[in-house]
Amino acid sequence: MVYSTAFSAESDSLSSLAAPRTPRASTATAFLNILSGCPEMQKIFGVVEKVAKTRSTVLILGESGTGKELVARALHSLSGRGGKLVPVNCGAIPEDILESELFGHEKGAFTGAVASRVGRFQLADGGTIFLDEIGEMSPKLQVKLLRVLQERKVDPVGSTKSIDVDVRVIAATNKDLAEEVKAGRFREDLFYRLQVVPVSLPPLRERVGDIQLLAEHFMRRQAEELGKPALLLGEATLEIFNRYAWPGNVRELENLIERVSILSDDGTIDPGQLPPHMHETQQRGVTHIVELTLPDVGVDFNALIEEYENRLISTALNQTGGNKKAAAKLLGLNRTTLVEKIKKKGLQAQIEMTVISDEATA
Ligand SMILES: Nc1ncnc2c1ncn2[C@@H]1O[C@H](COP(=O)(O)OP(=O)(O)OP(=O)(O)O)[C@@H](O)[C@H]1O
Ligand SMILES: [Mg+2]
Repeated sequence: MVYSTAFSAESDSLSSLAAPRTPRASTATAFLNILSGCPEMQKIFGVVEKVAKTRSTVLILGESGTGKELVARALHSLSGRGGKLVPVNCGAIPEDILESELFGHEKGAFTGAVASRVGRFQLADGGTIFLDEIGEMSPKLQVKLLRVLQERKVDPVGSTKSIDVDVRVIAATNKDLAEEVKAGRFREDLFYRLQVVPVSLPPLRERVGDIQLLAEHFMRRQAEELGKPALLLGEATLEIFNRYAWPGNVRELENLIERVSILSDDGTIDPGQLPPHMHETQQRGVTHIVELTLPDVGVDFNALIEEYENRLISTALNQTGGNKKAAAKLLGLNRTTLVEKIKKKGLQAQIEMTVISDEATA
């Protein structure tokens, strides 16, 4: 195993920096450079470890700053593939240039093609290509990519000869690709080809235990870089951190710690040093559905939790007329997380029935 013990000693020593009554992840681990104590992330590490050695295509999903690139790097470094990891940001490059970047071109293929050029797929031969922001790829290039995935051959622009490539493809996006398919912006066949193994990274606000862990890690790293003692995380600051939505996820936390570390003298980070918008986050309302007393014979804990979850999901969907995006927002969940839960629980039919019967009685 690549993870599990590497970080525990470090995290013990780090915990002494934190205010004593703050919640901590119990089994913090470092998987290559990815730190987490959250069970969902541990499962992801397991999947990454298993799939790394294969040539299967991996689609990494997650909001901006959740660690998609780190996962791609982990997959490559555990793959044992001798070739390079070649990253391509499909969102940052105009279509024509991206086409010749990816597949290469022949001399004279278009105006300005004064010499032939080797594409990134060829550069990644024997290694891995990381297609970042795949959701931005144009329909024309989606077709060309599909061919590479199916036949492991690239066609350089202006060439009549295909070139065989042995490339592992990893793609990432912060878009909801299933929605993009529905909207007709992303090819369904390509979507299925890409998500042979999907890896969905949870946003930071859904792994609250990781906030302190990562903040302390970044504070320690900054201290080393700046050659001064590590800052401490005050309790009030940690409370704000734990309530805040972190739209920029781990990257936002990393940048904040860097800024505060540079600007602060030694000591504790207090709320006054945080940007004003972080103070504005309202704590989500918590509704207690029932007053609890447990019967002497005991309860079936898992069944009750399951029922509670089902009721929360059904209520949210009812309140939003079956709109999953709005329901997910109401529950403070990522839309894909909600959709997965609905699927796993087989709630779909039940929900449709409820929405239909509500409409009928409305
Ligand atoms: N679990 C983690 N442990 C340590 N560092 C992390 C973790 N997750 C993310 N980071 C750091 O946060 C920053 C953002 O991560 P990364 O670039 O992998 O995110 P991303 O999902 O690719 O973002 P984007 O969608 O904006 O491209 C990087 O500096 C990365 O090192
Ligand atoms: Mg990225």
